Amino acid sequence: MSIIEGQASRRVAQGDRALPDVDPLSGADIPLPPPKGDSDLRGSTPDDVEPPADALLVVRDLKKYFPIHKGFFSRHVGDVKAVDGLSFFLRKGETVGLVGESGCGKTTAGRTILRMEEATSGEVLFDGKKVFTMDRHDLRRLRRRAQYVFQDPFSSLNPRLTVGDALREVLTVHRLARGDAAQRRIGELLEIVGLSAEHGVRYPHEFSGGQRQRIGIARALAVEPDLIICDEPVSALDVSVQAQVINLLQDLQDEFHLTYLFIAHDLSVVEHISDRVAVMYLGRIVEIADRDDIYRNPLMPYTQALLSAVPVARPGHKRERIVLRGDVPSPANPPSGCPFHPRCHHPLKDADCAKIVPPLADKGGGHFAACIKVPLGSAD
Ligand SMILES: Nc1ncnc2c1ncn2[C@@H]1O[C@H](COP(=O)(O)OP(=O)(O)OP(=O)(O)O)[C@@H](O)[C@H]1O
Ligand code: SF4
Ligand SMILES: [Mg+2]
Repeated sequence: MSIIEGQASRRVAQGDRALPDVDPLSGADIPLPPPKGDSDLRGSTPDDVEPPADALLVVRDLKKYFPIHKGFFSRHVGDVKAVDGLSFFLRKGETVGLVGESGCGKTTAGRTILRMEEATSGEVLFDGKKVFTMDRHDLRRLRRRAQYVFQDPFSSLNPRLTVGDALREVLTVHRLARGDAAQRRIGELLEIVGLSAEHGVRYPHEFSGGQRQRIGIARALAVEPDLIICDEPVSALDVSVQAQVINLLQDLQDEFHLTYLFIAHDLSVVEHISDRVAVMYLGRIVEIADRDDIYRNPLMPYTQALLSAVPVARPGHKRERIVLRGDVPSPANPPSGCPFHPRCHHPLKDADCAKIVPPLADKGGGHFAACIKVPLGSAD
């Protein structure tokens, strides 16, 4: 991360004639100018911070690039940098909300963490064990202990199996229950998620969107997991049903001491459920902090813009709307320096922003933000 990457990205900037950073006579690198304003690049990053003893999941510098091939010989011409250096941890029993616009890499991050996609580089530790080098036995255990709930559970439910049979399949595959014990467990699981045992004989198409999501949650719970990655679990639901499913997830968390990585683009939902929030932009986390710190004092201009569109619950409080200019740039060709610079509204934005990759630095009290114009200590 950070300054070294900043130098790497200056090489990207070399193609951009507006930003020469190599001496044309000697060919030597011209040192970066110091960032202007009050900024300071020396804050510690999440990679410098020792994860807490109760961390269930630790993600270090995770990258997932999808290669782009072109032409008759299928030449490798570039990469979609869907996840580009993600570092964070999840404590046992906490919920971290992962937010960001469509295409910023949330789903790819979730899937790569659970080895549903092969990582390009980086490390993930689940309960202290390295996920990417797990043998079959440990991977099998991981598949039990860490579950994934999808936005559209319908697509992950076999339309030809009744809901009861779908749950039985999970119980059988993981050798958790058979026969009458499985039947009892199926009824119990359906009741835990607010359905009834009789629903087990029905097929997925006979359920509403909210009920299907409850079935998806029941299926995840069947294996008694520790971690659930919830990927936009309520985005496709009506607002009233969203609240019911969110309340259910919270009740289940209390009852079964679950840990959630809650992926969403709706910041109101994330505020409701999260203990901490991580904001992603073009494959990177650009801000991460306790929920209240993020919502009351967003530091990164991108977070400020996202939050400006969220209505404030407190009476008398109103946020000034910051309209994000333009679309999210392509992760196959991200901007040099700060990836947000083409859209940034910060009054101190200058040429440095297109040269220096801002490290995700602790701006005070464990509030990390990736902006060279936000001084250290801003969050204190
Ligand atoms: N299998 C794949 N091959 C190539 N590119 C991919 C693949 N999967 C995802 N991508 C690209 O990676 C980037 C991140 O996609 P991802 O689905 O992780 O984003 P997201 O934040 O989950 O978006 P959304 O909010 O729309 O679900 C996108 O540019 C996407 O097109
Ligand atoms: S463009 Fe500059 S001011 Fe804007 S977020 Fe990036 S580093 Fe901060
Ligand atoms: Mg997604």
